[in-house]
Amino acid sequence: MNLGPADASPAVETRLVVADAKSIGDAANILRAGGLVAFPTETVYGLGADATSGRAVAKIYAAKARPQFNPLISHVPDLASAKREGDFDAKAHALAEAFWPGPLTLVVPVASGCSVSDLARAGLASVALRVPSHPVALELLRAFGKPVAAPSANRSGRVSPTHAAHVMGDLDGRVDMILDGGPTEVGLESTIVACLPDGVRLLRPGGISRARIEELLGEPLLSITREGVVTAPGMLASHYAPNAAMRLEATAIRPGEAVLDFGGRFADVQAASFDLSPRGDLAEAAANLFAFLRALDATGAEVIAVAPLPHEGLGEAINDRLTRAAAPR
Ligand code: TXA
Ligand code: MG
Repeated sequence: MNLGPADASPAVETRLVVADAKSIGDAANILRAGGLVAFPTETVYGLGADATSGRAVAKIYAAKARPQFNPLISHVPDLASAKREGDFDAKAHALAEAFWPGPLTLVVPVASGCSVSDLARAGLASVALRVPSHPVALELLRAFGKPVAAPSANRSGRVSPTHAAHVMGDLDGRVDMILDGGPTEVGLESTIVACLPDGVRLLRPGGISRARIEELLGEPLLSITREGVVTAPGMLASHYAPNAAMRLEATAIRPGEAVLDFGGRFADVQAASFDLSPRGDLAEAAANLFAFLRALDATGAEVIAVAPLPHEGLGEAINDRLTRAAAPR
């Protein structure tokens, strides 16, 4: 099956609607009929389909023009639902109790009664599960009553959407409905942690910092780089990509560059510029990151110079996304 960008699936009419009880009910019906619904989570907008239906999940890859069947995150409304899909050992249980609902995804072995389709799991013997905290996402999951597979609601290789308008820009004609719940709060995807028999491993830094997870576990997280471990394909070097080239850790601005600033470092420079957080707050920077990358890209600048950001706390995930956006393509 060729799902390259040239494989245009038949255009659907995309309804962009404000999320309320009525539209969320309509969205659940679209999911039941095997359709696609983009919805807000506290991290980024997700492109949702019935996770239990391989045919519905296939539409996600087609809509995103994703070249590969990466495994997807299945979203559920609570821990009890998650435990029907995956096997939670003591550490996975403790992480879920501490951070759900919230920006944490747990990769655990599939439970014997797991309903998530092979396609959503990319055939793996593990399943990625998350209970999001956004009220619209939770209401949709409860109304639908089955797991919802949802990657970020952008075309493959583009930055993740933090506003409904971003989703419309990328997926108009490719998704049945977009539930508008306003800008997302965290702005970075969830942290992904694998709790598998070979240990607890950080697969992707994200909305919950490594330090908070390690503090709860009382031990350091293993890294993803060990040989033979299934890593998250979301770690593909050029996953989060604006059109402009990116120059990281910039200490001066060159003529013609647009500027992604932090902490007001380049406030006096004459250039197209957005400051992720003039007061140097990493949570604010995370929430602004993808929208500002899009806005700077829209200026047509060939290079976006990025001010240095701290690497600790949420800075690890922000620098991870920036490094991938800067990867050669
Ligand atoms: O914040 C988020 O996580 C957003 C919102 C919509 O929930 N979703 C998201 O999904 O970022 P996506 O598809 O862009 O990223 C899912 C990541 C991929 O990197 C995938 O490889 C990894 O999860 N993943 C899923 N199942 C896995 C598994 N069984 N083993 C290892 N990695 C897995
Ligand atoms: Mg994504």
